[in-house]
Amino acid sequence: MDDLFKTLRSSGQDHLIPVIESLPQERQGPFVERLRAIDWQELAAPEVPLDDAAVAQSRVVDRQERAQRADEFSAVGERAYQDGAVAVLMVAGGQGTRLGLDAPKGCFPIGALSGASIYQLQAEKVLALSRRIGRAVPLLVMTSPMTDAQTRSFFAEHQRFGLAEDQLRFFCQGTVPSLDADGRALLAAPDRLLENPDGHGGCFTALVASGQLQRLVDEGVRRIVYIQVDNILVPVDDPILVGVAEVESADVVTKVLDKAHPDEKVGHLVRVGERDRIIEYTELTAEQARMRDDDGRLVYRWGSPAMHCWSVSFLAALAQDGFRPPLHRSAKPLKAWREGAMATVEGWKNERFIFDLIPQARISIGLEIERDDEFAPVKNADSQGSDCPATARRLASDLFARWLSAQGVVVDLPPDAHLEISPVFAATVADLAQRWDGRSQRVDGDLLLR
Ligand code: UTP
Repeated sequence: MDDLFKTLRSSGQDHLIPVIESLPQERQGPFVERLRAIDWQELAAPEVPLDDAAVAQSRVVDRQERAQRADEFSAVGERAYQDGAVAVLMVAGGQGTRLGLDAPKGCFPIGALSGASIYQLQAEKVLALSRRIGRAVPLLVMTSPMTDAQTRSFFAEHQRFGLAEDQLRFFCQGTVPSLDADGRALLAAPDRLLENPDGHGGCFTALVASGQLQRLVDEGVRRIVYIQVDNILVPVDDPILVGVAEVESADVVTKVLDKAHPDEKVGHLVRVGERDRIIEYTELTAEQARMRDDDGRLVYRWGSPAMHCWSVSFLAALAQDGFRPPLHRSAKPLKAWREGAMATVEGWKNERFIFDLIPQARISIGLEIERDDEFAPVKNADSQGSDCPATARRLASDLFARWLSAQGVVVDLPPDAHLEISPVFAATVADLAQRWDGRSQRVDGDLLLR
C-alpha cells in the first residue's frame, strides 16, 4: 500500500487514500488493484502546446491526381484485397451520449425503409466485399466495457449478419479515470472509480494487447481500413484507398475533405515540420484557421472525416517501441458519486485519439474524397437537426439516387421519400452497375433494394 499511497500523493490524487481506508477490508481488493493499474503520472501530465510556426500543407492526392491515377491505384488496391492483405477495423466503443440511445450506437435502426441497424449496415458491407472477392475479409470490432456485452449479443442474435465466425473479431478497449475540474479522480460508487472508454485511440493499445494485431501479421494482412461505426456511408470496399497506401508505401493514408469554409469545425490534416498530424479546430484561433500559404491556399484546408488506412507493419513497429497515444482532456458534465449520492460534476473526460499515431508515420498521405459520397455521421438526436439519423438517411438516399441515375434511371423523389440500397444488393456504385437489371426506368417514391 505504501507505494500506491506515494504514487497517489505525488500525482495529486491523495483524496483517494481516505476512500481506500474507509472501505471494509473485503471491498478494498478490486479498487486497490484498479488504482495500481492506472498510470497516474500520465493523467497528471499537461498536453504539449502547439508550435504553429512550421505548419504547412500535407501531401494530398487531390481529386485531380486521384482521377488521373485512378486505374493505377485501383488495380494495386484490388490486388491487395484479392491477396487477403486487407482487414476492416470498426471502432464502436463510444458512449454515444449525444445520440442518447440506451444501447450501443451500432444498434440504432438507421435504415430509412428497412430499419436495419448501423451494425447490420456496416457488417453487410464487409459481407458484400467478401462475396465480391471470394474470400472472407476480417472485420475487427472494437467495443468498450460500456458496449461490449450488448454488441456481442446483438451480433449473436443476428447470426453475425452472415459473417463467418473467425471473420468477425471483437476486442475491448480500456478505460481511464474521469477527473473533476481540479484534476482529481472521481468516483462512480463508494468503491469504484468513475471511468470512461479511453477514446478511439485506445484501439491501438487494445489491438496490440488483445493479440489481434499479431493475428493480422500472422495472416499476412498488410492494410487496415479503419472506420467509425457512426459514419453510415463509409466505404470498406475501396481499392483506391488501399491502392494509394500500397503504391506510396504509406504508413497511413487519411481521407480528407476540402473544407466547406475556413471556419468549418473539423480536424485538419497538416504537416508540422517533417511529420503530418491532425489539428482539431478547437486548438486553433480564427486567424490560424484562415491562414494562407504563399500560393494563397488555406494551410488548414484539409478536413478529416476520421477514415484511415493503416499499415500493419507500421502499427507493429510502434507496438514494438511501446508507443501509446497521449491522453487529451475535454470538459464534460459527469455523473459522479459525491458525499453519499450521485451528483452532476463539471470535470474532464480523458481520451486517446487515433490520429495521434499520424505524427509517428514516416509516410503519411491524404486522399481527397467527395464528402457526400462517403460521409454521413450519426452523432446527435434528430432534435438537434444536424449530423443526426434524419440527415444521415437523407444523405444516403441522395447517394443511392446518384447511383441509380448513373444506371440511367430517372429519379424524381418527393421530399419525404427515401431510397435505400442494402449492401447485400449493392455496396458500391460499381456493384450496382454489375447487378442492375433495368427493373425500373423511373423511381418516384420509397424504394428498398435488398
Ligand atoms: P465520438 O467521439 O463521436 O463519440 O466517437 P461517441 O461516443 O460516439 O459519441 P458522444 O461523443 O458520446 O456523443 C467517434 C467514433 O469513435 C468511437 C465511437 O464509437 C465512434 O465510432 N469511439 C469513441 C470509441 O470506439 N471509443 C471511445 O472511447 C470513443
